[in-house]
Amino acid sequence: MTHEYILTRTEGRVGIVQFNRSKALNALNSGLMSETMDALDAFDADDAIGCIVVTGSERAFAAGADIKEMADATPAEMMASPFIGYWDRLRQIGKPVIAAVSGYALGGGCELAMACDMIVASETARFGQPEINLGVIPGAGGTQRMTLAVGKALAMEMMLNGRYLTADEALKHGLVNRVVPAEVYLNEAIKLAAEIAERAPIALRLAKEAVNAVYEMSLQTGLAYERHLFYSLFSTADQKEGMDAFINKRKPEWKGK
Ligand code: CAA
Repeated sequence: MTHEYILTRTEGRVGIVQFNRSKALNALNSGLMSETMDALDAFDADDAIGCIVVTGSERAFAAGADIKEMADATPAEMMASPFIGYWDRLRQIGKPVIAAVSGYALGGGCELAMACDMIVASETARFGQPEINLGVIPGAGGTQRMTLAVGKALAMEMMLNGRYLTADEALKHGLVNRVVPAEVYLNEAIKLAAEIAERAPIALRLAKEAVNAVYEMSLQTGLAYERHLFYSLFSTADQKEGMDAFINKRKPEWKGK
């Protein structure tokens, strides 16, 4: 399928979505977001895909929501638009999603990376929520996810004063999984995704679901939720296969059942 704002491809069991609006630093307009979510849904539904990578260009992962598109909007128009809801749709993708970030990840771009499950960053990556400079605040999860990731002190500086984080700062504060040279960041993300894609599909989904529950539930509810997911995995063929393979010292063959 051809797209206007993104490119998609597969490498083995990894599905790759690449923003393709580099002249505008991959500013996230509604067309780009809609195409991205459709591509993610398609990879999510495809049994041949085990893990997804979302990336931009070397200069910019994405410099935020498209300011030109929303500059004249009214609150009613913003509410009626599906736009901000696309970030919620990303959260609903069941397979693991890795953001491969180089250059600017600002505003909605930073929020999109944070809504993924992991971030592999190039040394050039810059993370920021500079909405304050536009007279607004983040609207796609930035105040919540950034604060949970880096803590109140730094998050406040970012939200109130538009401070960017370097890749090393993002690593130090737990926002990203790893920082690698610019030449290899995408390959590293795909390599990590390929390793994950070889694992038991149902257990992957439930592991992701259980970790995400930390952000949505109290500890007590989250612990009970995790336990239910854990017990339910004993109904899968993959659990029997995985444990039998361990005991018999062989490599498991996952069926996703
Ligand atoms: N929306 C629309 N266009 C954008 C854009 C954005 N978020 N970011 C960059 N562009 C466009 C620029 O308008 C410019 O286009 P033209 O060549 O047609 O003028 C092109 O991309 C290149 O940008 P610059 O010339 O500005 O490049 P630079 O190297 O001088 O600066 C930058 C780079 C610091 C990232 C700067 O572009 C910038 O500050 N961008 C805006 C960042 C921002 O405020 N993001 C938050 C958006 S609001 C949001 O995301 C809300 C939310 O929570 C969902």
